[in-house]
Amino acid sequence: MFGSEVVVTDTDFHPVAPEGRRAASVAAASMAPVLIGNEVFIGARAVVLKGVTIGSGAVIGAAAVVTHDVPPRAIAAGNPARIIAQM
Ligand SMILES: CC(C)(COP(=O)(O)OP(=O)(O)OC[C@H]1O[C@@H](n2cnc3c(N)ncnc32)[C@H](O)[C@@H]1OP(=O)(O)O)[C@@H](O)C(=O)NCCC(=O)NCCS
Repeated sequence: MFGSEVVVTDTDFHPVAPEGRRAASVAAASMAPVLIGNEVFIGARAVVLKGVTIGSGAVIGAAAVVTHDVPPRAIAAGNPARIIAQM
């Protein structure tokens, strides 16, 4: 259940080091799979970054930037997202 303008990305697309950044392929950027469980509700404009696992039943607040795993049935919000409640 994704709100409007949610972004889920499994790569930074560009390397962090500036040298050769323009010429580098996406494969040179950090990447890691994103896993999203069942019945997860992601609020509008949230961004879920590489390597994050969101457990089933969790809620992600609007405009959150999710950089670390979110346990099942947790509510996470903010930038970077923090666990603010557990159901
Ligand atoms: C900024 C970025 C490049 C850093 O990547 P990284 O060096 O691998 O950083 P890490 O994932 O190891 O995170 C390091 C710390 O920064 C924090 N952090 C990372 N990205 C963040 C972001 N975008 N906003 C807020 N905090 C962020 C993490 O929470 C972590 O904090 P901690 O040390 O307290 O645990 C990456 O997180 C990012 O935002 N990439 C952009 C993805 C994107 O928009 N892709 C499309 C581009 S076209």
